[in-house]
Amino acid sequence: MKLAKVGARMAIFNLMLWLSFGFASAETNHHATHKPEHDMPKMSLMKRMALDLPPAAQEGLKLTMREHLEAIDAIVAALAREDFAKAATLANEELGFPKHHVAMQREPGAKFPRAYHDLAMAHHQAAEALGAAIPTKDLKQILPHLEQTIHACVKCHQAFRLPD
Ligand code: HEC
Repeated sequence: MKLAKVGARMAIFNLMLWLSFGFASAETNHHATHKPEHDMPKMSLMKRMALDLPPAAQEGLKLTMREHLEAIDAIVAALAREDFAKAATLANEELGFPKHHVAMQREPGAKFPRAYHDLAMAHHQAAEALGAAIPTKDLKQILPHLEQTIHACVKCHQAFRLPD
């Protein structure tokens, strides 16, 4: 495997860890005087609600999630090479409302709590707002929407998990 590819995979894996576990390492540094600007979540201390999903729906949800992470990766890569058209299409199609229908088809028999549904909708909405901002080609306008799109992922991960 080419080195660049290994590097990219490591980067995705690191982001995945970060998304899944939050900033758990920040907690071990009790002597830190630095107060982070962004309100750091303490994911490992959070009580997350376990979703009640049949096994097939759990697998379907995880597949969708891995695609979400790949979409974020591809969006950032497209922005970095200033391929704004590609980045906008990815934001709209891979993370926007069209993806919701794909996700639902993969989760047969799933009944989600209202709060989960609301977080999912907020995530699609943030992605479509990102898709609408990207054609400005102005990173000052795009980056806050990228942050909000990623933040919508984190917010749901802080509140819900799959059953044991
Ligand atoms: C509405 C809720 C929700 C949103 C929004 C959401 N996720 Fe998830 N995601 C989950 C849940 C629940 C799990 C299972 C986590 C667990 O059991 O610890 C999960 C797991 C994952 C996993 C692990 C998949 C695996 O194979 O184990 C990744 C990666 C992931 N999400 C990425 C993302 C990314 C990237 C976004 C945003 C673009 C996102 N998620 C948005 C609910 C959400």
